[in-house]
Amino acid sequence: MKGLILSGGKGTRLRPITHTSAKQLVPVANKPVLYYAIEALVGAGISEIGIITGETGEEVRSAVGEGERFGARITYIPQEAPLGLAHAVLTAKEFLGDDSFVMYLGDNLIRQGLTGLVDAFTGQAPSAMILLAHVSEPERFGVAELDGDRIVRLIEKPKVPPSDLALVGVYLFSHDIFDAIDAIEYSPRGELEITDAIQKLIDTGRTVQPHIVSGWWKDTGRLEDMLEANRIVLEGLERSVNGDIDETVTLEGRVVIEEGAHIRRSIIRGPAIIGAGTVIEDAYIGPFTAIYHDCTVISSEIEHSIILEHSTVDHVAGRIESSLIGKECIVSASTRRPKAVRLMLGDHSQVEV
Ligand code: TTP
Repeated sequence: MKGLILSGGKGTRLRPITHTSAKQLVPVANKPVLYYAIEALVGAGISEIGIITGETGEEVRSAVGEGERFGARITYIPQEAPLGLAHAVLTAKEFLGDDSFVMYLGDNLIRQGLTGLVDAFTGQAPSAMILLAHVSEPERFGVAELDGDRIVRLIEKPKVPPSDLALVGVYLFSHDIFDAIDAIEYSPRGELEITDAIQKLIDTGRTVQPHIVSGWWKDTGRLEDMLEANRIVLEGLERSVNGDIDETVTLEGRVVIEEGAHIRRSIIRGPAIIGAGTVIEDAYIGPFTAIYHDCTVISSEIEHSIILEHSTVDHVAGRIESSLIGKECIVSASTRRPKAVRLMLGDHSQVEV
């Protein structure tokens, strides 16, 4: 079996981060989301992995490389435009050949390993196996209508959901999916939809098996989901303290301080992670916070947030909370007169002051 990770897309829900970077490279607990997908596939014995890329292809390629460090062989497959998940599968036709494959959305995280699913799929050889999860707002997802354990219908973002079972971003397909994609049309939003292709499999009498996932699943395509994923992964951290920490620092609970971090006169309350080369002084870092490498936090308080590499938070008066701060950002106190909030924000930025 091969793996196909989708790492293109428009990323409109995570602007402005996605104006300049791949959302799949935003770190969750200081590890890019995409790495979790690669590790899950390799963990299930799949080492031949194709990655679909879009405008951020170069950045994805330089972050992931050829795959040796994951024990995988990675092939990059540029998609001409984000024309849908089924379009991405078509783009990978040559790479996939006649093999069955696991399709993994590169901005998704699931707790459950894939080994059992891959074994069940190879043993029973259905045309497709889809993963489902109970969710609280099914109208935001592709939703499955089941009759017993048989899937009757898949509906994309239904106004009146027939169930609370959303399609999780991991699918197992046999080569039959290509016939189904050939038989569908572009949807009203201009995409070749994977739900339409799977519905075609169902309608033509092929076997599509549902599997309800145990444990959590997160699509990190929106800010609140990214923070939630970060919170869940941080909760599973084991305490590990490296770096240079002076005796005035208080570390509470499960805290990871990476090698090369410098911390002085501060309180770090876990679960939290501080990246390599990051300097924290006179600060409070609260639960569910991940500060990536080479950041600086001085005389400020941060909680339940993700801060990307090379950013600075300096003498900010109020506590920063539930925030995602991109790379090389500077958030600092204003010392000039007249006293004012001065901003230089990229398009689609959001600030609450
Ligand atoms: P989505 O999050 O559904 O779509 P998107 O990335 O365009 O984001 P938004 O809705 O915020 O505009 O895509 C799921 C995953 O699949 C994500 O990792 C991007 C990837 N993808 C592709 O690789 N090619 C595509 O054509 C599409 C639509 C998505």
